[in-house]
Amino acid sequence: MPAQAQNGAVKVVLGRRYHFSASHRLHSAVFSEEENSRVYGKCNNPHGHGHNYVLEVLISGAVDPATGMIANLADLDGFVERAVLEPLDHRSLNEEVAAFRDTVPTTENLCIEIFERLKSFPKAKLESVRVQETSNNSFEYAGNADHLEESKGPSR
Ligand code: NI
Repeated sequence: MPAQAQNGAVKVVLGRRYHFSASHRLHSAVFSEEENSRVYGKCNNPHGHGHNYVLEVLISGAVDPATGMIANLADLDGFVERAVLEPLDHRSLNEEVAAFRDTVPTTENLCIEIFERLKSFPKAKLESVRVQETSNNSFEYAGNADHLEESKGPSR
């Protein structure tokens, strides 16, 4: 008999990938125009630029002996759609997402914001979120943004 059928408390981590596109401008209110240009380079372009973000959501939970699953993917998809994709896809993060009105929409901060939006998923525990900004950059966050205020500073 397989282990998961003997013990419903076996913990499994599930990863699910989503895609969204958004624009941003990296610009910090704590810097002068010159400093912003120096810190963020072309990412400080006043008209912004876009990314095709890849979001990976990891959740964990016990395998339900009846379904053989830790959560129904349809429940996760619906939650991510309402909490993240609908509000962020094809948006200007700076102009249309309140969280980035005063916080620089780096992918570090985007990762934290998405985690905060998903951590109340009722069917399983949110382990972490990973946001891939380009094929070379990705960021992961697993909670406890104790130093969120400091993260407003330059990061690249
Ligand atoms: Ni960018």
